Amino acid sequence: MDANLHRIPLFSALDDEAALALRQTMVPQTLKKGKHLFQEGEPGDRLYIVLEGKIKLTHASGDGRESLLMVLGPGDMFGELSLFDPGPRTATAVAVTDSEVLGLGNTDLRPWLNGRPEVAQALLQALAHRLRRTNEIMSDLVFADVPGRVAKALIELGEKFGSRSATGLVVNHDLTQEELAQLVGASRETVNKALADFASRGWIRLETRCVEIFDIERLSRRAK
Ligand code: CMP
Repeated sequence: MDANLHRIPLFSALDDEAALALRQTMVPQTLKKGKHLFQEGEPGDRLYIVLEGKIKLTHASGDGRESLLMVLGPGDMFGELSLFDPGPRTATAVAVTDSEVLGLGNTDLRPWLNGRPEVAQALLQALAHRLRRTNEIMSDLVFADVPGRVAKALIELGEKFGSRSATGLVVNHDLTQEELAQLVGASRETVNKALADFASRGWIRLETRCVEIFDIERLSRRAK
């Protein structure tokens, strides 16, 4: 069994034998950087788990502007909303880097939901977790300033994609400046200004599609 599977909530509640059986009903799919897995508005009949790489979920506003809802990494699940609440996909999924996902079709998932309450529980927990995050983001959009939201986004990306270095936390987020701005919900200029300010204070170092965080404590305080 893939070493990563044990870290995935959907599998973690299952013993090895059941996890392997569930894994075998799932279909792996590789995606080149920039490739769309599905588009917002399409009908959806399967959920996905990221095995490798990064997938971004985007949502287009009526006037064509895009917001970046989330960047997903190994172990993250997505695409379940249109299974539980049949309807069109609520977001577009695009590979930010070369990626590999596992797909689980609706008909293959049903027997697991009916026969193994721990699988249903793991999915409910993932949904509840996402709703908490969404509420927090909505509240930040109303009450927090742009630098505060940038600091929070960097910390979230750090928790997900960061690796410790001798000097700090290296976060290979693989996002362009435009995508970072879409994630924070502000203009590129305002987000760049906040990043440059953090860099001039010595809290972070900026690189292309990467940031190194030196002072996580100050950044966390700014995110509050
Ligand atoms: P689905 O609507 O099937 O396809 C798009 C997926 O994006 C959706 O299921 C969720 O898994 C995910 N998604 C939608 N909205 C959000 C959000 N605000 N935050 C994180 N993930 C989301």
